[in-house]
Order: sequence, then C-alpha cells, then structure tokens
Amino acid sequence: MFYYYGRKKQIAKYYPSPNYKVIVEPFAGSAAYSLYKDNWKNDVILVEKDEKVADIWQWLVSEATPEKIRSLPDLKVGEKSSEFLHIIHAATKMAFHYKTIKVTPVLARNWEISKRYMADNMFKVKHWKIICGDYSKAPNIEATWFIDPPYKENSGKGYRYSSEFINYDHLAKWAKSQKGEVIFCEGMYGDYLPFTPLLELKGIAGKSSKELIYYRSSNICKQLEIFT
Ligand SMILES: C[S@@+](CC[C@H](N)C(=O)[O-])C[C@H]1O[C@@H](n2cnc3c(N)ncnc32)[C@H](O)[C@@H]1O
Repeated sequence: MFYYYGRKKQIAKYYPSPNYKVIVEPFAGSAAYSLYKDNWKNDVILVEKDEKVADIWQWLVSEATPEKIRSLPDLKVGEKSSEFLHIIHAATKMAFHYKTIKVTPVLARNWEISKRYMADNMFKVKHWKIICGDYSKAPNIEATWFIDPPYKENSGKGYRYSSEFINYDHLAKWAKSQKGEVIFCEGMYGDYLPFTPLLELKGIAGKSSKELIYYRSSNICKQLEIFT
C-alpha cells in the first residue's frame, strides 16, 4: 500500500493464489500479497508488531479518505521530515531507525507515487482488521496464511523488530500449526523449513538475491471433505 523495505509488490504474482475466504498476514509490513489483484476482497487480517506501521494501517482502515491523502503535502528535496510515513519511503532498511530524515530525490519520488496509490486504493482496505502485536497474536483460524517475516540473515539490523528478535525454530513450529494453507517466504539463509527456490532477483551492480518459499496446502482438510 505504501513503499516498504522488503515488500512483496513486484513478486506477489509468483505466490499461490489464496484458496480461503480469509487471508492472514502475521508480518504485515505494507501487505503487498493481500493487495495483489483481487486478494483484497477476502477478509484480511494483518498483524504487525511495529506500532508505527500498525498505526498507519489503522489510520488507512478507519480514518483516511482519498481527499485527506491527496491533501498531504508533497516533499521537497533537501527539506527535513520526522514523519514516520515519510521516512519509510527512503528505500533503506535503516529507515526504521531514523527519527528525522533529509528528503532525497528517491524519497520525494516514492512519496509522490505512494500518495497517489494510497488515495486510489484505500477503499480496498476498509473491511480489513489490524492487530498490533507479535505474530502469535493472530487467531488460529482456517485461512490462507501469508507469512513473510524479516529474513534470517547475517546482519539482522533492518526493521524496528528485526530478525535478531525472532526464534525461527519456534516460528516454523507455529506456522505448521496454523489451520488452512501456509505460504512462507524466506531468503537464501532460510533453513528452518523445507524451503524451495521461488525465483532469483537481479539487483544493482550484478548482485542477485534468492527468494525461497515453503508452501503447505490444505490437504488434510481437503481429504476430510472427500470422505464426508
Ligand atoms: C518482510 S516485512 C513484511 C513485508 C510485507 N510482506 C510487504 O509486502 O510489505 C516483515 C514485517 O514483520 C514485522 N515484524 C517483525 N517482527 C514481528 C513479530 N514478531 N510479529 C509481527 N510482526 C513482526 C516487521 O515490522 C515488518 O513490517
């Protein structure tokens, strides 16, 4: 919905389409999967531990109107901003640690694009539910679970609640216990579930990164349906 480090907007099309009426994103960020194509029409539940991110969602769901969003001021290169919604448009994972930022051309442009996108698309989220807290606060209901945590990596510094605060073995056990289907995203260091390659992303300066996926379909429920 807004620019967000690690968002899945460009690659949402590679993930399986939801088979359940409810989509739960227990690591919400900017919730690109739930916004992809018609996914937003489902009942969507977002869980996000970073209060500042959860507050943006709560504002979008309950208060924002296209007019209010369009009337937010544009940003001028060189000026300073302490607004978290501006700061996350800086296209760096360290943005989560800044209190004030000097507006760069990239930030100004990202903000301009996001403002337009939010104003045009906010009607899609008015029926969504937002839970501010740890992923484990999500209700264990039959759903399509789109689980996209901070990736297990060496540095662990991005986001306010980064990978260094996550017990990945615990998270894997929790994910497996959810009812319905599970779509789980990881990067090249993902080793705590039987991940398989999804795609390779070409970055700048010849760098590339691997996206992995673990998918568990709702086979148990489907088998039960056949016998009833
Ligand atoms: C990789 S991002 C999700 C990106 C999202 N899929 C998108 O398309 O924008 C991971 C998110 O999980 C949040 N997070 C980190 N630890 C968490 C926890 N224990 N419970 C819930 N959310 C958490 C971070 O604040 C961040 O917003």
